Amino acid sequence: MAYRSLVFGAFASGSLAVSVVTPRDPVPPGFVAAPYYPAPHGGWVSSWAEAYSKAEALVSQMTLAEKANITSGIGIFMGEPCVGNTGSAERLGFPRMCLQDSALGVSSADNVTAFPAGITTGATFDKKLIYARGVAIGEEHRGKGTNVYLGPSVGPLGRKPLGGRNWEGFGSDPVLQAKAAALTIKGVQEQGIIATIKHLIGNEQEMYRMYNPFQPGYSANIADDRTLHELYLWPFAESVHVGVGSAMTAYNAVNGSACSQHSYLINGILKDELGFQGFVMSDWLSHISGVDSALAGLDMNMPGDTNIPLFGFSNWHYELSRSVLNGSVPLDRLNDMVTRIVATWYKFGQDKDHPRPNFSSNTRDRDGLLYPAALFSPKGQVNWFVNVQADHYLVAREVAQDAITLLKNNGSFLPLATSRSLHVFGTAAQVNPDGPNACLNRACNKGTLGMGWGSGVADYPYLDDPISAIRKRVPGVKFFNTDGFPWFHPTPSPDDVAIVFITSDAGENSFTVEGNNGDRNSAKLAAWHNGDELVRKAAEKYSSVIVVAQTVGPLDLESWVDNPAVKGVLFQHLPGQEAGESLANVLFGDVSPSGHLPYSITKRANDFPDSIANLRGFAFGQVQDTYSEGLYIDYRWLNKKKIKPRFAFGHGLSYTSFSFDASVESVTELSLVPPPRAPKGSTPVYSTELPPASEAYWPTEFKRIWRYLYSWLNKNDADKAYAVGIAGVKKYNYPAGYSTVQKPGPAAGGGEGGNPALWDVAFRVPVTVKNTGTKFSGRASVQAYIQYPEGIPYDTPIVQLRDFEKTQVLAPGETQTVTIELTRKDLSVWDVELQNWVVPGFDGKRYTIWIGEASDKLFTACYTDTGVCEGGKTPPV
Ligand code: NOJ
Repeated sequence: MAYRSLVFGAFASGSLAVSVVTPRDPVPPGFVAAPYYPAPHGGWVSSWAEAYSKAEALVSQMTLAEKANITSGIGIFMGEPCVGNTGSAERLGFPRMCLQDSALGVSSADNVTAFPAGITTGATFDKKLIYARGVAIGEEHRGKGTNVYLGPSVGPLGRKPLGGRNWEGFGSDPVLQAKAAALTIKGVQEQGIIATIKHLIGNEQEMYRMYNPFQPGYSANIADDRTLHELYLWPFAESVHVGVGSAMTAYNAVNGSACSQHSYLINGILKDELGFQGFVMSDWLSHISGVDSALAGLDMNMPGDTNIPLFGFSNWHYELSRSVLNGSVPLDRLNDMVTRIVATWYKFGQDKDHPRPNFSSNTRDRDGLLYPAALFSPKGQVNWFVNVQADHYLVAREVAQDAITLLKNNGSFLPLATSRSLHVFGTAAQVNPDGPNACLNRACNKGTLGMGWGSGVADYPYLDDPISAIRKRVPGVKFFNTDGFPWFHPTPSPDDVAIVFITSDAGENSFTVEGNNGDRNSAKLAAWHNGDELVRKAAEKYSSVIVVAQTVGPLDLESWVDNPAVKGVLFQHLPGQEAGESLANVLFGDVSPSGHLPYSITKRANDFPDSIANLRGFAFGQVQDTYSEGLYIDYRWLNKKKIKPRFAFGHGLSYTSFSFDASVESVTELSLVPPPRAPKGSTPVYSTELPPASEAYWPTEFKRIWRYLYSWLNKNDADKAYAVGIAGVKKYNYPAGYSTVQKPGPAAGGGEGGNPALWDVAFRVPVTVKNTGTKFSGRASVQAYIQYPEGIPYDTPIVQLRDFEKTQVLAPGETQTVTIELTRKDLSVWDVELQNWVVPGFDGKRYTIWIGEASDKLFTACYTDTGVCEGGKTPPV
């Protein structure tokens, strides 16, 4: 009962419009894709009703060309300042929308804050801080005049430790990703900025991610739809539940079908089952068909071009106008695409005094080309240098500080007294001497590593580096600005402490850094620049070594971590601009470390199965990335196989110690499946009459800019298309399963994120935490993991994170009670036969809620059948 191979997806084929025809390659048996049509209309959820009725009023006045115009970008580098810019319907007051990276702030702009990366934010396990960072990012986007924030990222989920973009997200666990994404979205959207949940789905490695005319992007073959629902989709569902305004599809394919035209994923899963009300955009240059992608539910093509950009060609714009006139794309679909975009704009109040962009992604100079990609372009002012940083350095610093994860602290060696004699090694202790922004898109690893590389970065306004912060406290510190241990190094005295900085970088496939083309494919999990050797050498000479790692993810620590001279190991993750004071505060004991690992660190790479441990390399045709491990990634796999990691998911030490005292309250009684969903509410209704061809004619005397993308057609072309459309001869080769009849939606749906009853709180667990130490204040992380009842007909991981809370700073002896909540969904499994969330223990079977500080430090068991919590227990791992 537990597994059934999943049949989903759409067929990629050509369109009547100009498009790259990408034939499908065979995927392994059991991974075939199935169609889901039509694209569900948006607007049926009551909290969006007002925005949709405003949108309906506006869209019903739009011409065909205006409608097509706002579903696509105007072309890459075609002016307008942002990384993505839609067309407009100026006549009706609908502006070009500005879409801007990155997940960690405002990219390619001056006077902004370079926040800590997602992975760092996840490591705080602190909901309040995650939300505060979201608010600050939203404020900066608003101050810069963007409409859409291209974050947060929860795909990749972090399945492969080598994956290049894991650091943009929050950690290798669906619940950590989901809660962090939801809080980020809430913070951002409360500022009137539309957040984007990305990348749907399966973008777990960078290599071979993109379609090109010669090779399709790899196919993420997600074993079954239980794995899809319980792991990869979970953060998307939570994001939709909090009302995320837009979603971005991934570059790769899933089960053989490109995500940008995947009818099962977009129409079936995202829009129907999850009830997503916003709009769906393609990732940049991943739009490979005109009609198919529209039918499959894509609403916006970014940045507008075909996947070979800069020639002035689009699969939409003028082609979309044509496809509607000739009847290939139903007008109904175009209306829904536009309505979703306009409704989202209204929903976040962007019709009222929303600022226009005041910066340019293309240059940091005051003046620049207005249409950089056009051959001849006028110049003008493009940057107004608006400072949006406010006091956001405070939240950035707090995140950086509370993410610092103390992995090892032998003999309570840390914190350090400022009277110690300190010798610092490693170029990462100091900012890149060429300047923190010297490398385009941070595509180099030189000096302090505050973020990975690619589109997910921001310009540093400054970089507070560790050596400056250490020097402030210990002016006599000796700094060896080298990654190779000095040849002649005087024998240190036994009191000297060596602090060694090491790094590991990764990023987006668009850049190759030191042989790594996005994923960590050459350096793998070793520290870069011979960092491991630097540690080993330092440990030969010094009797006390502290290792500080700035890293995108797990490292192989085995060659030195057990060395008795290595007294302490700290992960700063990717701290952003506040890399110095945040670290010094922890090193010298102003605060206790309170970060926890957002992934496991194994002793050997092959402690994970090949499907997780290794990247998929070159193959003729479509590269296949098959999720043969199913539900078992990260600690789920290690627990199942009884493999002890070096440091487990959730691990993180403090300078003090805590005790936990829990109780469990039953809140809502559960049934096997959620109560039946309510029917969908009404959605906008428009005329179905084909618009006259004249709505797509070029305006007279219009001065075109070369390579700029427009939605107008020559009169002849428009008339010809209209003649075909009005004759009603359906010439288009529609995909199998194609239909235009709206569906009532699946049982598992019914609200944003799914059936609303999935969020009913089933159990509440108040946990009283006490600082049991005597010397240090500190913050405790309370993590709750679920263990399913025995004897149920589902194979489930031994424990799974379901909620977490963090205490405030507790002085020695002080207590605080935090409350963990478990929802119906938290106790459910996705049943592939019923296609619904099922509570296998609904009839009083015992779930165990494990409470502790890490996935391998769970000492309190709360039993749902008796309501009793017992200390001194351990899960059967
Ligand atoms: C490609 C990346 O995958 C995506 O995350 C980003 O938002 C866009 N480029 C725009 O830069």
